[in-house]
Amino acid sequence: MTKLFEPIKIGDISLANRVVMAPLTRNRAPGAVPNDLTVTYYRQRASAGLIVSEATAISHQGQGYADVPGLYTREAVEGWKKVTDAVHSAGGKMVVQMWHVGRISHNSLQPNGGKPVSSTSRIAEAKTFLVKEDGTGEYVATSEPRALDLSEIPGILEDYRKAARAAIDAGFDGVEIHAANGYLIDQFLRSGVNDRTDRYGGSIENRTRFLFEVVDVVVKEIGGGRTGIRLSPVTASGDSSDPEPQPLFTHVVEGLAGYGLAYVHLVEGQTGGPRDFQQGDKPFDYEALHAAYKAAGGHGGWMANNGYDRQMAIDAIDHGKADVIAFGKPFISNPDLVERLKLNAPLTPLDTANIYGKGGVGYTDYPTLDQVA
Ligand SMILES: Cc1cc2nc3c(=O)[nH]c(=O)nc-3n(C[C@H](O)[C@H](O)[C@H](O)COP(=O)(O)O)c2cc1C
Repeated sequence: MTKLFEPIKIGDISLANRVVMAPLTRNRAPGAVPNDLTVTYYRQRASAGLIVSEATAISHQGQGYADVPGLYTREAVEGWKKVTDAVHSAGGKMVVQMWHVGRISHNSLQPNGGKPVSSTSRIAEAKTFLVKEDGTGEYVATSEPRALDLSEIPGILEDYRKAARAAIDAGFDGVEIHAANGYLIDQFLRSGVNDRTDRYGGSIENRTRFLFEVVDVVVKEIGGGRTGIRLSPVTASGDSSDPEPQPLFTHVVEGLAGYGLAYVHLVEGQTGGPRDFQQGDKPFDYEALHAAYKAAGGHGGWMANNGYDRQMAIDAIDHGKADVIAFGKPFISNPDLVERLKLNAPLTPLDTANIYGKGGVGYTDYPTLDQVA
């Protein structure tokens, strides 16, 4: 019998099973406020052991895509409260993924049409998603950023603190700090992006400073047991790269070990792409990373993601390679994914035409098993 469907406690959060819904941006929150459709969508998926919300901007400056939700207005907090109430009523648990996109943004999404901010002033070879006046979506090049001045960093840390507090006010069971996929924290971590010469650039200690300052401020505000973090050591999204990810992320997890976090979430390989993707000259060793975290005293849950299917998840859990497994795309098209995995039932394929934007179609209309039968 596999342990995949057995309860587990990670930090302060008790999960009914070890199947997690990964964060999934869906661009259906105009005005950055979750709405009734958001409530329905997450309620339908509440049988996950834990839901990690779609990436959610900690501030207006942290916004990088059209119609993604935020956590920085009263309306957004009230909108999220309805979501968390629905998930809790259905027996689920939910954390919010706290997001600052850094340079993966566009002037039109920024306060006063200003430049997005980053560790660097170099533009990313990347695209973002905007909605035109006629309501149709388009992919456009990201705008030129400006490098953050040292004097601005405390203000960004304060935005993280406020967002963590807002998350608790909105009824979330905790937060996931988004340090993956080429966004702001990752823009500090990676030497292929971070070209600073101050105490936030250069050595591994310097490039990880911003990440630890964010973790510190969030943990002080809401406690480590309600805080998780997402890392993607080799992902090249957002034009990010680092020739030596192993020592960089070993330093990260060793530092995280002291914070008593609920969990550390690892995207293995290129996010949403090949699991054997690598940066640097050697394949990345995730087991060594896990061992380094434990050896440094880390006892948070180890969450693994990227391209997992039922058997891979069972093997990883039952061989102690991970404590919980996050599924992304399968949760979009299978609201009752846990039940389907339990029964080894077929999965509904993803409707790729309706992933982003567009209301309820391809969002809240996927059937459960009993609706299929
Ligand atoms: C539509 C879509 C939206 C995503 N949005 C986010 C996001 O908001 N935050 C994040 O960290 N990852 C995001 N991801 C990555 C997923 O969380 C996950 O890492 C990826 O889909 C691989 O897992 P899977 O193979 O189970 O789908 C997104 C992926 C997809 C397909």
